[in-house]
Amino acid sequence: MINGERLIERPLRWGMVGGGRTGQVGYKHRTGALRDGTYKLICGAFDLDAARGRDFGVKLGVEANRCYADYKELIAGETAREDGVEVVSIATPNFTHYEITKACLEAGLHVICEKPLFFTVEECDEVAKLAEEKGLIVGVTYGFTGHPLVHQMAAMVKKGMLGDIRIVDMQYTHGFNAGDDVGAGEALKWRTNPKTAGPTFVLGDIGTHLYYLSEVVLPHLKIERLLCDRKAFIPTRAPLEDHATVLMHYDNGARGRLWVSSVNAGNMGSQRYRFVGSKASIEWSDAHPDQLIYEVQGEPNRILHHGMPYLEEESLAVDRMGALHTEGLGDSWSNIYLWIAQAIDAKNRDDEAFLKTHHYPGIKAGTEGVRWLENCVRSADAGSAWVDFK
Ligand code: NAI
Repeated sequence: MINGERLIERPLRWGMVGGGRTGQVGYKHRTGALRDGTYKLICGAFDLDAARGRDFGVKLGVEANRCYADYKELIAGETAREDGVEVVSIATPNFTHYEITKACLEAGLHVICEKPLFFTVEECDEVAKLAEEKGLIVGVTYGFTGHPLVHQMAAMVKKGMLGDIRIVDMQYTHGFNAGDDVGAGEALKWRTNPKTAGPTFVLGDIGTHLYYLSEVVLPHLKIERLLCDRKAFIPTRAPLEDHATVLMHYDNGARGRLWVSSVNAGNMGSQRYRFVGSKASIEWSDAHPDQLIYEVQGEPNRILHHGMPYLEEESLAVDRMGALHTEGLGDSWSNIYLWIAQAIDAKNRDDEAFLKTHHYPGIKAGTEGVRWLENCVRSADAGSAWVDFK
């Protein structure tokens, strides 16, 4: 169980680029990072609007002279100080991730970056090499995979409780973009423009969460081939998609189906995962993250609750609230930030043995998400053809 004890020697000096007052995801980063005393927020370039960013940063408790106008000023100002920042989180629109990550790594700073990590696998590989050379960590905030029951699912699959995996069924949908984009806010504008979003809209925006979670639960399964069908129901969003279906063939013969959409009008179901094996199935949704449905063929269905002693050790070890009291998205993000902090701490101490077995979403996880997107786009652009996964 995680109870707030600091699991690294001292708090990491932490800064943020983006995630300002109007940003959607910034608070999730701060909720995750500031929970366990593993990070101390000391600086930021929080906003495209420098004055608003400074005002916001000061209200977060950051000294005014360490609220910078942009990431370049932040790097210059902080690397000139003895007590300068050590790790920077990037919570800005997709098109800025590559440039800011590279600049931070070159300046000797660890990075925690939003997904989708970059636009291409080539960029990911280049940055992975740079991080390796510099001895630095790149974490990626797949914020839903800290939920204890995600790790329960992984442990059950590993123990063989489901039998051989046959079907992987995943959905992340909502209806917030069912209408047209007249008067759309900034967050939707950049998401629907290939120059700022990258080669996808909903596939990258929400599909990468599904894909990474499936990698956590089913690390032994690899995709061999996939078919992606994508469409912009609101034509001004083309060539990017607001709806997509992906069929996947795995190397063990399993079949996968993944649906992402932002035009599923009225839907507030968010994410749903069903993993079907030869003996049993499990089903989990982030809308009810404290419960896991466990169905064994021929037996009454069960609902497993987080924090209960009958769960696997892997799940109980990352539970924060304990049974009966709800565990939520903030707790999941806190786990992600904690695991990344432990990776940074180990890297700083050259503890490669720890890093070998320590699980956290890093550059590989970010790269695999981008690889999956590249394959989806290749299939869709070939007329929704089956393509070998490269
Ligand atoms: P947003 O448009 O709501 O907010 C972006 C924030 O970054 C704003 O505060 C803006 O002023 C600031 N900003 C933009 N460019 C900047 C720059 N060059 N320097 C400094 N600040 C800058 O965007 P949102 O929804 O917060 O998304 C940001 C990133 O987070 C995206 O990559 C998105 O895919 C990801 N995201 C991840 C989620 C997750 O669950 N992991 C959830 C939502 C978004």
